[in-house]
Amino acid sequence: MQQTLVIIKPDAVNRCLVGEVVKRFEKKGLQIKAMKMEMLQPYILKEHYAHLKDKEFYEELIKFMSKIPSILMVLKGKEAVSVVRKMVGPTKGREAPPGTIRGDYSVSNQSNVVHASDSEENAKIEIERFFKKEEIYDFKKMNFDWIYSRDETYIDKTKK
Ligand code: TYD
Repeated sequence: MQQTLVIIKPDAVNRCLVGEVVKRFEKKGLQIKAMKMEMLQPYILKEHYAHLKDKEFYEELIKFMSKIPSILMVLKGKEAVSVVRKMVGPTKGREAPPGTIRGDYSVSNQSNVVHASDSEENAKIEIERFFKKEEIYDFKKMNFDWIYSRDETYIDKTKK
């Protein structure tokens, strides 16, 4: 099982889309391991978006992300990183296909509703960046055995 970080961004919080986004992940079968609201500070956002520091939209992005609180989540599931990225869709809302979160709720490059980790390696780094260990809960949900088949979970535990 993998874990991934999702940030429901300030545009989604302002547009009352938090419930819609959480509902999609829950209905898919992903497990919420952690969830909190936080006013993200520029210092942590600069670290999080360091790969974009030379882009012309970088300063605006930091301002936008630190304007009002975001919702942060850790989601768990088999291949959770790619499952969540597919559900989120490509970066630019206008280009994201219908059926994806960005495709259904965004027409913007910046205000694109959610952030989701793009690799298992980055997911680990990002979860550690935004969550303390004690904020992440490990438990077996009662519907777990109905979400995956036995061979996907119990038999080959080495598989992601
Ligand atoms: P990036 O890491 O490239 O994409 P993703 O969020 O899909 O992993 O970009 C990070 C964020 O930067 C993106 O979610 C929104 C913002 N952004 C802009 O504000 N303007 C732009 O033109 C682009 C491409 C991204």
